[in-house]
Amino acid sequence: MPEVISEIASLRVRLEDLRRKNRSIGLVPTMGALHAGHAALMHAARRENDVVVISIFVNPLQFDRPEDLEAYPRTMEDDLRVAQDCGVDIAFVPTAAELYPREPAAFVDVPALTTYLCGQFRPGHFRGVATVVMKLLNTVQPDRVYFGQKDAQQLAVIRRMVQDLNVPTAIVPVPTVREPDGLAISSRNKHLSVEQRQVAPVLSRALDAALRLIENGERSVATIRDRVLPLLAQCPQVRVEYFEIVDVETLVPVMSVNGPVLIAGAMWVGSTRLIDNVLLEGEGE
Ligand code: PAJ
Repeated sequence: MPEVISEIASLRVRLEDLRRKNRSIGLVPTMGALHAGHAALMHAARRENDVVVISIFVNPLQFDRPEDLEAYPRTMEDDLRVAQDCGVDIAFVPTAAELYPREPAAFVDVPALTTYLCGQFRPGHFRGVATVVMKLLNTVQPDRVYFGQKDAQQLAVIRRMVQDLNVPTAIVPVPTVREPDGLAISSRNKHLSVEQRQVAPVLSRALDAALRLIENGERSVATIRDRVLPLLAQCPQVRVEYFEIVDVETLVPVMSVNGPVLIAGAMWVGSTRLIDNVLLEGEGE
């Protein structure tokens, strides 16, 4: 089993010792309920570092809906087994009181990157994410930190935070892990009924359809949306929150595809919110 540490002070002492021995440290921040997506991050960290630290913390600061925080799956015993199978050395599992001993007065905000996509529908979410990730980076001081491309806006926000605030940690993106039918793996998939699970892959199919249109030369975002949105509209159980094509770095929607873009969507299936995206690099230059 990984060594389980729940206090910041003990973790610091442990890591200082390893750092003195010149061991490189990789950090994988998670909220637990570990699945194959998280495993891909842990495997990447295992390959590239002497010491792998995973954090498991359901961060109240990033939940914009109290019922979502309440319903978030907590499966610590299983999580530690998955972490062990992935070769994790240390699991940092703080309580909320340990990470937030009092109401925080300092936050990290990256407003320029949170105007569009999920940011417009989840007020305060990315501030909560950036703040907790900064706290984890300051506590662990890893050489590398691993994030999934599945949460593309989160990855962009953290990248920008690390650049702008001179955090000496390399960000390592990991491609989205999917079910055989294309559905991006997520702890939220557990909430889907059998019937909802059958329609859920429509989001990844819509993203793929948009990608194919661009690869076949279509440049107009309006045309792409007109062609692709009906795929989603034909599922009565699905409510589309957004389906956007944005600049990879600024996350600002583009009218025409002339460079690297992110095609990203969010939809509700019943009371479950699913997100997914595909990256199109270097197209149309
Ligand atoms: P969580 O949802 O547990 O995800 C932890 C990491 O796993 C994130 O970097 C996420 O992008 C990645 N991940 C999730 N599903 C994935 C998939 N199917 N393929 C590849 N990677 C996947 O994201 C968070 O937690 C939190 O916001 C956190 C960064 C821990 C801050 O609280």
